[in-house]
Amino acid sequence: MKPKIIVTRKLPDSVEEKLKELFLVSFNKNDLSFDREKLLEAMKQADGILCTVSDKIGKEILEASNRRVKIIANFGVGVDNIDLETAKENKIIVTNTPDVLTEATVDIATLLLLSVTRKAFYSEMMVRLGKWSGFSLVNNLGIDLRGKTIGIIGMGRIGRSFAKRANQAFGMKVLYFNRSPVTDLEFEANVRFDLDKLLEESDVISVHISSGKDNKNFLSKNRLRKISKSAFFINTSRGDIVDEEALTTLLYNREIAGAGLDVYINEPNVPDNLRALPNVTLLPHIGSATIETREKMGMLALSNLLAFFNKTEIPNRVI
Ligand code: DGY
Repeated sequence: MKPKIIVTRKLPDSVEEKLKELFLVSFNKNDLSFDREKLLEAMKQADGILCTVSDKIGKEILEASNRRVKIIANFGVGVDNIDLETAKENKIIVTNTPDVLTEATVDIATLLLLSVTRKAFYSEMMVRLGKWSGFSLVNNLGIDLRGKTIGIIGMGRIGRSFAKRANQAFGMKVLYFNRSPVTDLEFEANVRFDLDKLLEESDVISVHISSGKDNKNFLSKNRLRKISKSAFFINTSRGDIVDEEALTTLLYNREIAGAGLDVYINEPNVPDNLRALPNVTLLPHIGSATIETREKMGMLALSNLLAFFNKTEIPNRVI
């Protein structure tokens, strides 16, 4: 008998086809997020769940009575949507999909970098709205990136790759903050052990740390205040790492020059006062959203499930 898998969101067709060959699968044809009841039911009905960032799998879900699920294969590298401690206590395996989304996410960080420093999306909006008053030598001026300093918070796969891109493609100087020592960098970069120093010295700050209890509100109001008035802030990681309200106030008061955000605390709800700002570029969590990357992520989630049920080594086991 094939293991039963419940898939919580619509997946790329090729991934759904492959899953169908290997498992007894229940798909989510209309792609509406599972609510609490549906998640609780899935825990009782399936041997494994293939879920993603929009599924909030907390203690109550993991401790569902008559639980049958033994593995949760997350479609995504971040697993902050799952209560890992409770999963571990209940001997539920959790896997993720690292590596394959690194470059796609760095592309979006790059897009945000260019957009905010060259006022690109804002200017585009003016053109669309018919509000462009014509060529000007002094309006819509951005800044050059060459010779400016980018401060990278978190030198994991994505942080490193973005630092390298900023350095090699745009000639930016790199500063970084990381909790553990960083070795084998193929480009010039200087560490700052004191995060405040990095915030003070950078022209652009980009955050690449994972979410989870330890990193919630990591960039608190007090820390955000260290950012220089002329600097830009980029977040392609998770919204709850940053005090969103404080960031919005600093942007509104022009105490930070601009921000490029792909993630928010309460997705898909982006606060009105943040959406009203002209000095932000706001994307709808599309860091990994390319056809190729989503296929690779799906196939990786599938191979994690397959390895578990075949009792072979699971490629991307988180716990
Ligand atoms: C990830 O992989 O963590 C992306 O943000 C999508 O969840």
